[in-house]
Amino acid sequence: MRASREYPFTWEEFEALRRLVVAHTGIVVADTKFEMFYSRLARRLRALGLRDFRDYLALLRQGDAAEIPELINAITTNLTGFFREPHHFEFLAKTLAPRWAARPGAPLRIWSAGCASGEEPYSIAMVLLEHLADAPRRDLRILATDLDTQALAQADAAIYPADRMGPLAHPPWRRWVLRGRGERAGLIRMRPEVRALVHPRRLNLIGDWPLERRYDAIFCRNVMIYFDAPTKRRLVDRLADRLGDQGHLFLGHAESLIGLSQRLRPVARTVYALA
Ligand SMILES: C[S@@+](CC[C@H](N)C(=O)[O-])C[C@H]1O[C@@H](n2cnc3c(N)ncnc32)[C@H](O)[C@@H]1O
Repeated sequence: MRASREYPFTWEEFEALRRLVVAHTGIVVADTKFEMFYSRLARRLRALGLRDFRDYLALLRQGDAAEIPELINAITTNLTGFFREPHHFEFLAKTLAPRWAARPGAPLRIWSAGCASGEEPYSIAMVLLEHLADAPRRDLRILATDLDTQALAQADAAIYPADRMGPLAHPPWRRWVLRGRGERAGLIRMRPEVRALVHPRRLNLIGDWPLERRYDAIFCRNVMIYFDAPTKRRLVDRLADRLGDQGHLFLGHAESLIGLSQRLRPVARTVYALA
């Protein structure tokens, strides 16, 4: 234990915390995350005015445990970006959008599962606005879900620091972005036409899914990497259940289906369809 710590933090306490995390999120926490846990959660102890991690664990174990979402917010990795893994957005623009355009008026349902702060679903929305002429009038919804309430609040507000806009600084994307002035200088916000397509909602991928629809496309990228093999297998199976007959599943670059599912076949780089 480091002498300079503000709160004592034992390996047992770390173990107890990571057991809670895996039970509530499916996220498997490596031993190497000990320091990260300490620094992120010491902030919670300070904010709550607690004496030590024993008190924090007691709070988390209370029946109503309003602190559990805060624990989750503190430890999730929300790394994302506009048009991250650009080949997926090219596939959407060049392969799926023309197919969907050939079925004018058909409802379209897309799910960004593990959307973090929303850059992924807004990137999808912009591609559809650019490549699907009837997108603004169509029955088109992009469901954007995550477990992290802070990340979701940002997805809902659709406000980002301008220095994170990346490709949005350039045509054609920049026309879908509003730039803040005065007090809001240095911030951007997605235009209302883009926001109108995206519907953020809290959903735990290892919990119940109150979803009625099947999806034309599911993006579940860079989420499974945090889960163990049985959790991944079950998740992929449930995602396959939620795909429409012509639906596509998009996974992250480090996520392969080898050994996880025989129900899906690759159709492009980390893009899958029902076998
Ligand atoms: C690294 S981000 C990926 C964001 C985006 N999909 C991308 O690829 O850029 C992973 C996200 O998965 C979310 N997540 C982790 N476990 C989850 C769970 N059990 N249910 C829902 N979301 C979860 C995290 O909160 C985080 O926002």
